Amino acid sequence: MARDILKTLKAEHDALRELFAELKETTDRGIKKREGLLEEIEASLLPHAKWEEQVFYPAFQERADRDGQQTYAEALTEHHAVENSVIPEVHAAEPGTPEFAGRTKVFGEFIEHHAREEEKTMFRMARELFTSEERAQLDEHYEAWKQSDAAANLIAAEKAKAGIRGAVKSLTH
Ligand SMILES: [Fe+2]
Ligand SMILES: [Fe+2]
Repeated sequence: MARDILKTLKAEHDALRELFAELKETTDRGIKKREGLLEEIEASLLPHAKWEEQVFYPAFQERADRDGQQTYAEALTEHHAVENSVIPEVHAAEPGTPEFAGRTKVFGEFIEHHAREEEKTMFRMARELFTSEERAQLDEHYEAWKQSDAAANLIAAEKAKAGIRGAVKSLTH
């Protein structure tokens, strides 16, 4: 079967959905389990989101009509809300607490909403805007990018930012 970036991104959304469903089943006593699942979620979400922002979204925006431009703006705003607000709040909560359970639940709901919008709107448009060869090329680019130093540095910076913001928040709350 031919490679297709839209299938890869959809499969990653599904993997994230499963991780969030597992996280929802944990109790306040399952601290190690919660920490492990959060790490897995971030390890798959961060490369996905950063590559979308740096490569896929700009390529989409370049070809999109007016509705596509709005879809692009919505998607990017949702990324920013998760990066700047939701993830730092999650990191400011202790894993063995109801705060953590509540904040990660909202995190999962944001991701579900965002993934569904991408799949139902942006990816549907992208299927018309990009040829199957282009979608295969994007898929190859994504796979190579994930192994690159640039990606590793970007993700380390993201993690540091979430951690630092989290630390500041826990001092002030
Ligand atoms: Fe996204
Ligand atoms: Fe996505």
